[in-house]
Amino acid sequence: MKTLFSPVTAGKLQLDHRVVMAPTTRMRTLQGGIPGDLMTEYYRQRASRGGLLIAEATAVSPFANAYEDAPGIFTDEQQAGWQRLVEAVHARGSQIMLQLWHPGRQSLPELSSGRQPIAPSALIARETYGVVKNKQGAYEGKLFPVPRTLELDEIQLLMDELRQAALRARAAGFDGVELHAANGYLPEQFLLDSSNQRTDIYGGSRENRARFLLESVDVLTDVWGPGRVAVRISPSGIYGDMHDSDPAATFRYLAEQLNRSELAYLHIIEPRIVGPEDREAGHYAEPVASRDLRAFYQGKIIAAGGFKPEDAEDILSKNEADLIAFGRLFTSNPDLPERIRNAYPLAAYNREAFFGGDERGYTDFPTYQPLATKPLLV
Ligand SMILES: Cc1cc2nc3c(=O)[nH]c(=O)nc-3n(C[C@H](O)[C@H](O)[C@H](O)COP(=O)(O)O)c2cc1C
Repeated sequence: MKTLFSPVTAGKLQLDHRVVMAPTTRMRTLQGGIPGDLMTEYYRQRASRGGLLIAEATAVSPFANAYEDAPGIFTDEQQAGWQRLVEAVHARGSQIMLQLWHPGRQSLPELSSGRQPIAPSALIARETYGVVKNKQGAYEGKLFPVPRTLELDEIQLLMDELRQAALRARAAGFDGVELHAANGYLPEQFLLDSSNQRTDIYGGSRENRARFLLESVDVLTDVWGPGRVAVRISPSGIYGDMHDSDPAATFRYLAEQLNRSELAYLHIIEPRIVGPEDREAGHYAEPVASRDLRAFYQGKIIAAGGFKPEDAEDILSKNEADLIAFGRLFTSNPDLPERIRNAYPLAAYNREAFFGGDERGYTDFPTYQPLATKPLLV
C-alpha cells in the first residue's frame, strides 16, 4: 500500500518518500531577485534524503513580477544564486524543481521595469494585491492596474522568454521545472473564461483557451525532455478574481491533454485552499479535486492544500494522489518528513513572517530534538 514513506517514481524523479515541499513565496532575495545565502540556508534546511522540494514562484521575465524581493531567473546573477542553492540542496540528497512564474495581469509596473501588465484580455483582477516596499522600507499591498491585451504576435515572445528561463533553470542544475498555472497567473488567465475574451486561436473554445498553457508545456519539454516538466493547477481556485463557467469540463479537458506530455507530475491544489489561505466553507459552487481528475490524467499526481499528516495518508491510501505537498507546515518544520515519520510534534507556523523580512520566522525554526533517553538505573 502507498504511504508517505513508500518510494515513488514521478517521471525522471526517483524519490524515497512522498512528503513534498510546496512552492512558497517568502520574499527574501537579495536586491535584483537574486537568491542569496539566507535563501540557500532555508532550502538546505528543508532538504531530506530522497525528498523533493519545489522552489517558490520565480519570475521568468523582467516585465512581470508581483512581489518585491521575489526571485527571478532571467539574469546571470539570479542563475548563479540559484545554482549555489541547488548545490546545497543536492548535497543533502534531495531533488529540487523550480516553479516558473509569469503573473500576467497580476504584475505591478513598479516591479516590472515600469511596464503595464499584459494579459489575454484587458480585464482587471479585482481586489487582488501585489506587494511593494514603500519609501520607509515597509511592505505594502498594491492593487494591480488594468492590463493591456496581448497582441497575437507577442505570444511567441512570451514563449521565447519561457524557453530562456527553462534553459537557465537547467544550467543552474535543477532537477526539473514546474509551470505555475495556478492561482490566477498568466497560463490560468488564458485557460478560464472569466479572464479570457479573445476571439483568436487563444480564446473562445476550451481548446483555444488551453492552447497557451499546452504550448508552454511543449516549450519546457523541448528544453528539458520528458519526465522533468510539471504543471501546477488550482481547479477550484478563485484567488486573483478567477472563475470559469464550467471548471469541471475545463480541467478535465486540460488533464486529458496533458497526458501526451510525459510530465514529471501534475500538481493539484485541492478545493480546501484559496491561494495561501484556507477557504471558507461554501466558497465554491463546483469544487474540482485530485480525485476528480485522477480518472482523466494517467501520470503521477501531487495533491496540496490544507494537509495534515493523517489526511495525507488517507488520500494516498485511497489512491486519489501519489504525493502530498505541504506548504505552511514546511515553513515552521524544516525537518517535516522526519517529524511525520517519527510522529514527533509539529511546530506552529508564524504567519507574520511569511512574506518578507530576515531570518526571523524563516531559518530560525529548529529541527526536532527528541529528549535524550535517560540511562537506565540498575
Ligand atoms: C507564504 C506562502 C507562499 C506561497 N507561495 C506560493 C508560490 O510561490 N507558488 C504557489 O504555487 N503557491 C504558493 N503558495 C500556496 C502553497 O503552495 C500551498 O498550495 C498552500 O499553502 C496550501 O497548502 P498548505 O495548507 O500545506 O499550506 C503559498 C502559500 C503560502 C502560505
